[in-house]
Amino acid sequence: MEKIILTLTIFFLVLLQTVVAQQPENKIIINADMGKNQISKHIYGHFSEHLGTCIYGGYWVGENSAIPNTRGIRNDVVKALREMEIPNLRWPGGCFADTYHWMDGIGPRDKRPEIVNVHWGGVTEDNSFGTHEFMDLCDQLDCEPVICGNVGSGTVQEMASWIEYLTSDAQSPMTNLRKQNGRELPWKVKYWGIGNESWGCGGTMTAEYYSDQLRRYATYCRDYGDNQIFKIACGPSDENYHWTEVIMSEWAKTPAWQRGYMNGLSLHYYTVCHDWSKKGSATEFNEAEWFLTLSKTLRMDEFITKHSVIMDTYDPEKRIALVVDEWGNWHDVEPGTNPGFLYQQNTLRDGLVAALNLDIFNKHSDRVKMANIAQTINVLQAMILTKGSEMVLTPSYYVFKMYKVHHDATNLPMEIKCENYSYESNSIPSVSASASKDKAGLIHITLSNSNPHQNLTVTCELRGIKKVEFKKGQIITGEKMNSFNDFREPEQVNIKSFSDVKINDNILSINLPAKSVVMVEL
Ligand code: AHR
Repeated sequence: MEKIILTLTIFFLVLLQTVVAQQPENKIIINADMGKNQISKHIYGHFSEHLGTCIYGGYWVGENSAIPNTRGIRNDVVKALREMEIPNLRWPGGCFADTYHWMDGIGPRDKRPEIVNVHWGGVTEDNSFGTHEFMDLCDQLDCEPVICGNVGSGTVQEMASWIEYLTSDAQSPMTNLRKQNGRELPWKVKYWGIGNESWGCGGTMTAEYYSDQLRRYATYCRDYGDNQIFKIACGPSDENYHWTEVIMSEWAKTPAWQRGYMNGLSLHYYTVCHDWSKKGSATEFNEAEWFLTLSKTLRMDEFITKHSVIMDTYDPEKRIALVVDEWGNWHDVEPGTNPGFLYQQNTLRDGLVAALNLDIFNKHSDRVKMANIAQTINVLQAMILTKGSEMVLTPSYYVFKMYKVHHDATNLPMEIKCENYSYESNSIPSVSASASKDKAGLIHITLSNSNPHQNLTVTCELRGIKKVEFKKGQIITGEKMNSFNDFREPEQVNIKSFSDVKINDNILSINLPAKSVVMVEL
C-alpha cells in the first residue's frame, strides 16, 4: 500500500512539474543599479502643423471667440496639455514648413496675407496664427518651441532673419520689427529644424545635394546672446539608410571645429496598417488589423537600431542626436471628412502603439534625444479631438500622461523574456516595457500587453535592490480593441488605478490584463 502511495505521489509531483514547466513564463529582469542614460523628456514631444483643424479650431479660436481662450488660444486645450506635461512642440510643419514664409504671419492680423495651403486641402490660410501666437502658445504650455525652417522654397536670408527676429537683443531692422509688433525682449528658441522631408515634399532633393544645403543654411543660423541653436538636419524616412550614410559621412569629414552645423538628425516613420493607398479605418478593424498595426509599429526598433549603427560609425561619441520628429499611426480619414485634413479617431489600439513606440525610444535613449508624435490635435494620432467648444482626450493622450513619470529619469536596462502573441502564422512579443528611476529615487515600470484576449502574469525582478515597496499603479484599457472616446462618450478609455501586484522583496508579480498599458510606482 505504502509503495502505491509513494508511486502515486511521485507521479503527481512529476506531472505538476511538467505542467508548471509548460506554463509560458513572462519574466523581466531590471538592472536597477545599472542605469546610465537619461530619458530626455523631449522624447515625449509633439508636433502641430498648419493642417486641417490642428492649429485653427484646435489651438487657435481668436480673441473674440465664445470658446474660453487666452489671447486667442483655447484654455481647455492648454490645461490638458499642461497636465500631460508637454515638453516641446514642433511647428509649423511638416510639409507646410517648406512653403511657409514667416513674414506672412507677423504684424496686425488684418493685414496679413491670405495664402493657399497647397499641401493640406487647398484651403485658405489667413496667417492669423504666426510667430508671436506660436511663442505665446509655448509660453502658455510651458514647453520648448521646436521651429522647422523653410529650406524647400525659402532662402538662407529668410531663415537667418527669422532667427534674428526671434532671438536677438541687438539693434537691427529685425529686432525693431519685433518690437513694433509688440515683443520687446527676445525669446529663447533652442530647437531648429533645417527643412522637413527634403527628400520629398520639402524639395525632392538627393541626400548629397541636401547635405550641402544643410551646411549653407546652418551656417547662418546664428546664436544671439546666450541663445544656442540646436540644429536638426532633415533625416531619412523608414529604411532610407543611404540618406543617413551621406549626411553622417559628410559631417564626419568636416574639420572638427566646423561640425557644429548639425546637432541632430531626424527620422520619420508612420505606422500604416495596410498600405498608403488603403491604410485602414481608425475604428473599424478586426484582430488581423490590430495585430498587423502593432507588428508594423515594432519596426521602429529596427529602423532606429540600423540608423544608429550608421551614426555610431561616424559619431561614436554620440554627439548627434537622433530626433524622431514625426511618428504615429496614419489611418484613413473619418468618413465624410476632408481627405486633406487627416482627421482620424483614436482607439485603444493607438494607445498601445504609443506605448510600444515610447518604450522603443526609452530603450534607445542613448541616441534618441527627441521625438514628436504627429499631430497634437485633430490630425493623425492626436492627443485631443475638438468639435466647436467641446474637447475629447484620446487613449494616446492618456498613455503620454501615464508615461510622464519617465521624463528626464534614468533609463534602467532590462531583459524581457515573454510569450508570443501569435495571429495566424505570425508572432510578436506580447509584453513591451520600460523602467526608469527618477530624481527622487522612485522607480517606475510601464508595461503593455498586446494580446487582446489573454491576461498575463509578469514577474519583474529588480536586481541591485534588496526590497521594493509598491506605491501606486495605473492602468489604461478598454472593453474592446477599438474602444475610443468621443463627444458622446468621452470616458471609454481613461487612466484608472491599478493594484494587481504582489511583492516579495525585490520580485514583483504583476497581473497584466489583456490589451492594457500599466504603470507601477515603487
Ligand atoms: O504629418 C503629416 C505629414 O507627414 C507631414 O507634413 C510630412 O512631414 C509627413 O509626410
